Amino acid sequence: MNVKKNILCIGAGYVGGPTMAVIARKCPHCRVTVVDTDAKRIEAWNSDSLPIYEPGLAETIQQTRGKNLFFRTDIERGIRENDIIFVSVNTPTKTFGVGAGMAADLHYWEKTARQILEHSQSSKIVVEKCTLPVKTALAMERILKSVPNGNNFEVLSNPEFMAEGTAIKDLEYPDRVLIGSRETESGLKARDVLTEIYTQWVPREKIITSNIWSSELSKLVANAFLAQRISSINAISALCEKTEADIKEVSKAVGMDSRIGPKFLESSIGFGGSCFKKDILNLVYLCRNYGLSEVAAYWESVVRINEYQQERFILNMLGAMFNTLSGKKICIWGVAFKANTGDTRESPAIYIARRLLEEKAEIVISDPYALVNARSDMNGAEGRISYEEDPYKAAWGCHAIAVLTEWEQYKSLDFHNIFREMIKPAFIFDGRNILDHQRCFNIGFNVYPIGKPPLTHF
Ligand code: NAD
Ligand code: UGA
Repeated sequence: MNVKKNILCIGAGYVGGPTMAVIARKCPHCRVTVVDTDAKRIEAWNSDSLPIYEPGLAETIQQTRGKNLFFRTDIERGIRENDIIFVSVNTPTKTFGVGAGMAADLHYWEKTARQILEHSQSSKIVVEKCTLPVKTALAMERILKSVPNGNNFEVLSNPEFMAEGTAIKDLEYPDRVLIGSRETESGLKARDVLTEIYTQWVPREKIITSNIWSSELSKLVANAFLAQRISSINAISALCEKTEADIKEVSKAVGMDSRIGPKFLESSIGFGGSCFKKDILNLVYLCRNYGLSEVAAYWESVVRINEYQQERFILNMLGAMFNTLSGKKICIWGVAFKANTGDTRESPAIYIARRLLEEKAEIVISDPYALVNARSDMNGAEGRISYEEDPYKAAWGCHAIAVLTEWEQYKSLDFHNIFREMIKPAFIFDGRNILDHQRCFNIGFNVYPIGKPPLTHF
């Protein structure tokens, strides 16, 4: 028989919202509450216009909200009334003091730990859902045990591996669920409680357990490995452009080796998103802290190649367009850091847009879901910027199109129509290699893919 559980999640962001919605749907016997200090975000979660775009999310919320899923701002009450507390607050890169630009800023997280201690009237299981430096659980335990009040706090690490754009699918069918705990009697008991929640929909063999430090570290390492594959293929794309090799062909040939595998080998303008860069820098900082400077330098190079790839894209545009972008009108198709999300955090498109403005180009930014975030990111940028959801209208009167997000709809547009309305010679810079390059070339475009020879009429 399933025992009813009262679950709280502190942090109603990209992870907290979708994760708790899926738990609520899969565990109708549980009551799930999500709290946040951001009242506007909570209001949006309680409305028809959710604060984030994610395929399948609206349907999941509709099935659960008001039944066994609640979004609230009353954090103290949430802590008092629930037995299992997930912590899913933001852990950005520190911008000040020691470790600025590298270490994780843990102040949101520490504030949460102190709130849990202050408002708990009974024992709790506290679950780290956010991505944290290894050994953070120790600090959490020390805070929670700093005032003996008769309550027992058991801290678990349960990192989240979902990716944006596929969050609901990833949560429903995870490759694995990782639960790290202390190997004490109470630690193992707490681990069993969390395991029982996941067994409602995740096959038992996919739920793996480990010691708490391995769990914290595995999350950072998984992201570092994924990002490293992208930097590896992007580094080779630069070599392809010099040698007339084709990165798609290289990546196919390499990825068919079953030891390497085909996923995460798409060359691009570089990885974006709120996590890869921050998590690798966090890993680099940890390594330096432990005196492992060679290991730190190895992982740091993954971030450097990513920056190089973005800058290389701009330099290629500049070179192709006769070494000046000044006064030229450039249309950006896609500003989200990847398709199927409206998220623009650390999006390479934002960096490229800013660099184009520095070159005194005029830019038109187009995206089906990310224009609200793009406007706020570009706030304060100097230069001529406009925003247009319709990709056709965005390209009108432009000298060039830069494809920066791999939205499916860009593949099947009427390129004859688009070419007709552009200034000649018309250029396409396909930063995602998603268009039919030969077809665009035949229509009249000068086409610059990533990691392949350009197709030009000059
Ligand atoms: P987010 O910024 O979207 O959400 C965090 C939320 O926490 C914000 O709404 C913020 O207002 C709230 N918050 C901060 N301090 C609070 C407090 N004391 N009390 C209540 N609410 C508070 O962040 P996110 O993208 O959901 O990421 C959260 C964590 O999960 C990070 O550690 C991240 O590395 C990790 N993660 C993110 C993803 C992803 O795809 N975004 C995937 C896996 C793991
Ligand atoms: C990533 C991981 O995939 C998740 O497992 C992890 O939970 C999450 O980070 C996190 O910790 O936040 P996410 O950043 O949402 O998820 O999206 P990804 O699909 O990993 O894409 C990241 C970036 O890499 C995007 O900009 C994407 O366009 C780029 N990418 C991805 C490539 O350039 N090439 C590829 O082959 C794959």
